Amino acid sequence: GAPDRRTPTGADTDVPAEAMGQQGAYLTTAQGARLRDTDHSLKAGPRGPTLLQDHHLREKVMHFDHERIPERVVHARGAGAHGVFEGYGAADDLCRAAFLGKGVETPVFVRFSTVLGSRGSADTVRDTRGFATKFYTAEGTFDLVGNNMPVFFIQDGIKFPDIVHAAKPHPDREIPQAQSAHDTFWDFVSLHTEAQHHTMWNMSDRGIPRSYRTMEGFGVHTFRLVNAEGATTLVKFHWKPRLGVHSLTWEEAQMLNGIDPDFHRRDLYDAIEAGAFPQWELGIQAFPDTPEQTFEGIDLLDPTKFVPEEIAPVQPIGLMTLNANPTNFFAESEQVAFHVGHLPPGIDVTDDPLLQARLFSYLDTQLNRFGSANFGQIPINRPHAPVNDMLRDGYMQQGVHAGAAPYRPNSLDGGCPFHAGTDTAFLDVPVQVPAASKVREAPASFADHFSQARLFWRSMTTVEQEHIVRAYTFELGKCYEQAVKERQLRALAAIDADLCAQVALGLGLPAPAPDATEVLDMDPSPALSQVGRSWPL
Ligand code: HEM
Repeated sequence: GAPDRRTPTGADTDVPAEAMGQQGAYLTTAQGARLRDTDHSLKAGPRGPTLLQDHHLREKVMHFDHERIPERVVHARGAGAHGVFEGYGAADDLCRAAFLGKGVETPVFVRFSTVLGSRGSADTVRDTRGFATKFYTAEGTFDLVGNNMPVFFIQDGIKFPDIVHAAKPHPDREIPQAQSAHDTFWDFVSLHTEAQHHTMWNMSDRGIPRSYRTMEGFGVHTFRLVNAEGATTLVKFHWKPRLGVHSLTWEEAQMLNGIDPDFHRRDLYDAIEAGAFPQWELGIQAFPDTPEQTFEGIDLLDPTKFVPEEIAPVQPIGLMTLNANPTNFFAESEQVAFHVGHLPPGIDVTDDPLLQARLFSYLDTQLNRFGSANFGQIPINRPHAPVNDMLRDGYMQQGVHAGAAPYRPNSLDGGCPFHAGTDTAFLDVPVQVPAASKVREAPASFADHFSQARLFWRSMTTVEQEHIVRAYTFELGKCYEQAVKERQLRALAAIDADLCAQVALGLGLPAPAPDATEVLDMDPSPALSQVGRSWPL
């Protein structure tokens, strides 16, 4: 059965009673004064005007007026759960992070999400799903902020505002609210053909999961592990659901959107409440950390590419069990703040230009979301490792810092000594950065936009291919602009002529001539274009 309800930070934290929000047997004001009545305002006579001196009325209404915080700019719709991660010890030779050690148990909080819909949008839309995990390790928090697809739309984070502008509802009509079926989305992905691979995953059954419990998760980027000797390995992280991977059919998803827009949220909550705790194995694909940072010709710094498991099997390194629902949605699922830079000793980032931009974006957006730099002190965001930083003051500061000298070295507060060991985070692995001048060009390997989309399409069964064709046909059929549909058909022709022909048939359009497929991509700046890239508009 389900365990007792957790504190806001998970199983084994000692959250002080005052952080739990409510205590005592009587209703009080926010100042703790007992109330006799909360249903009637203080008035000059039963039919007279309300008196300004009614502090309870003003406090109650004022607080209500300020209950909302901005929803996440992406991934606004989501649901979270608490759990535990247990390491297998299988990564010990590759990674010094203690939480991966055999039998080590670490509390986790996971938030699953859709990307595009607003906070109140439906769950079973066709979209990518977020799969973000906060490991409260004894050596500091590790956030694995992944998705349910192994590749991403774009190769450089500088395009993230653009793809999100294109994929969110049209600025004039604010439609569609939660689906990819619109002109700006298809305009973007047909012009930036690096997005074609991820788009095909969206059009596949992976775009409408049966349940959060039946989704795979992927760290997408390549990360760098560091072992106790300082040796490094490149890895990609994978979550494998114990329940297997299952999807909804399009028709099921459509019905559920109407009948139960909370379908995934309800499914997760109910399963955990019933004691059917979902589990995922964490695995890694490991690659030698060579200067080229490629594996079998695949660029490990290109987030639009994955490495097939046939050539790099996923090695299991631990098991996650989600075993407790949040006590309060806002306090936990809404206020949790993930960051790809939250890394414990032994795990480091790589130079993937998408990941590099994310390192800036999450802190920045969370300042906007919380309105204060102290959101790390909210219970769900507090590390389970001792914190001894030199960050001070600011709006809503919760800490009462002792001492007089928040700087180092100092001769007053014991000097703020650094830890002398090598088991520290941000070890600054001495990876060679090639001598280079400042450039904006992408590497030539980033110009291949279609080979893995083709690989994915050709790996599908007949039924899965039918679903993909129907999805493209339905979604493109919703576009108003003929030119956008035609350009997307040319991109499909570059992936696979048969796929293109089937979608063209469904749309009632001619399949593009084969020579239209020779062009690879449109890049508006000739100075930045790569060999052979031009895309007639
Ligand atoms: C939120 C995944 C790329 C900016 C999220 C969330 C996930 C996620 C899972 C939701 C976290 C939560 O549940 O609270 C990914 C993955 C990416 C990616 C897997 C690529 C591999 C990017 C890029 C940027 C970005 C390139 C910006 C340059 C954001 C922002 C949020 C967000 C601003 C909202 C965070 C918040 O308000 O706390 N992302 N993302 N993401 N992501 Fe990404």
